[in-house]
Amino acid sequence: MRQEFEKIVLTEAEIAARVREAAAWLDARFAGGSIPVAVCNLKGSSVFFTDLVRAMQTDVEFDFMAVSSYGSETLAVGKPKVKRPLFASVEGRDVILVEDIVDTGRTLVTLRQYFADLGARSFTVVALLDKPARRRVNAQADFTCFTVEDAFIVGYGLDYAERYRNLPYIAQLKESVYSS
Ligand code: IMP
Repeated sequence: MRQEFEKIVLTEAEIAARVREAAAWLDARFAGGSIPVAVCNLKGSSVFFTDLVRAMQTDVEFDFMAVSSYGSETLAVGKPKVKRPLFASVEGRDVILVEDIVDTGRTLVTLRQYFADLGARSFTVVALLDKPARRRVNAQADFTCFTVEDAFIVGYGLDYAERYRNLPYIAQLKESVYSS
């Protein structure tokens, strides 16, 4: 383990097993229906997204978007904004939003409204991680892979200052790294 990490929170094998369960859950939900659009909320969800869609049997279309994130100081007042919109219309479509982590829940609340305004027929949220201790608004994914404690984590798409996204596991960063 790298010296800047406190501990490994989820191993590559643990993540892979749970991603297969999430994919099976989506397959059951969308069996026999029209082709859903799987939306990757960049950048944090990118690694989870590619593993999840490849574990699915159901055909899906891809789309990508990005939401502005706010520093922890401004989370209490800031409202996330869509800074890169989707490539295609989702009007009348079944949308699967793939999220890295539901933290304060503000992103999820914003995107639920965003997709409703775009006229999506249904909105299903699959989140890799949930940090319920940090919740500020009422938000819940339809399928959560793992619930984690209130600590800053990196890897498998999650970053600290754009680093660590490419790690195949999830680790807790030592507080000394981000408090210095
Ligand atoms: P929200 O607070 O639920 O709106 O989540 C906003 C975003 O913050 C998430 O989509 C993540 O990209 C990021 N985030 C929240 N907690 C962590 C963490 O522990 N490590 C890295 N990124 C995080």
